[in-house]
Amino acid sequence: MKNNYKDSFEQIKIAGSLAAETLDEVTAFVKPGVTTDKLDKICYEFIKDNGGYSAPLYYRGFPKSCCTSVNHVVCHGIPTQKYLNEGDIINIDVTAIVNGWHGDTSRMFFVGEVSTKSKNLVSATYNSMMKAISIIKNGIHLGDIGETIQTYVEKKGFSVVRDFCGHGIGTVFHETPNILHYGKKGEGMKLETGMIFTVEPMINEGVYNTKLLKDGWTAVTKDKYLSAQFEHTVGVTNDGYEIFTKSKKKYEQPPYLI
Ligand code: MF3
Ligand code: CO
Ligand code: CO
Repeated sequence: MKNNYKDSFEQIKIAGSLAAETLDEVTAFVKPGVTTDKLDKICYEFIKDNGGYSAPLYYRGFPKSCCTSVNHVVCHGIPTQKYLNEGDIINIDVTAIVNGWHGDTSRMFFVGEVSTKSKNLVSATYNSMMKAISIIKNGIHLGDIGETIQTYVEKKGFSVVRDFCGHGIGTVFHETPNILHYGKKGEGMKLETGMIFTVEPMINEGVYNTKLLKDGWTAVTKDKYLSAQFEHTVGVTNDGYEIFTKSKKKYEQPPYLI
């Protein structure tokens, strides 16, 4: 595995690029009055038309092609016929399979004009992910990633969700190790060159506790306050990292200039 990690990096980059391009594609459609079902359809079609398959579809019984998590939904929101409203914030999470490899990425979107507190939560979440990714290299500990995210967001008065984490990824959608978004420097396993995993912090405005809705998928904040998330699939190298899910259009965090 370790010797030929460059081959796996090449492969996962194809899947990761398609996932990122899917989010680029859906961006223009995220506005007041669109349904999350419509966004799901756009993602499904784009991935299919470009030689991939949507990993979430029928994954452990998940009924749709992507996750759409609006406002106080932490993750795994199921697309529905409900309309988005001005002022909503939404995370769209897509995972494309190409040649058996999985590329997993998500971004936040603003629906029209959103509140200052929403903007602050979303940019803190994005920054925490990028700060954590920036320290990745061979030899650091998983806890270094967790602490970086936790320290950054807690200083701003936000909290890190404990109930969901990042994950190893490759020819399998979710595999070891678990990537916790909180923790202590020096703790947890050491990263090695060639490892591939996601960093996908879920950051809450209020308490970090979550509650699972009766559909068995949708996780919401216990206090109904807002939650935000971004996700990249990354690979570890000797002296750094590679991000496989970068936007070709430089849509990094909202507002996106289309
Ligand atoms: N894409 C999600 C993740 O980041 C997993 C979604 S699984 C689904 O790991 F079944 F909810 F789609
Ligand atoms: Co993931
Ligand atoms: Co994901």
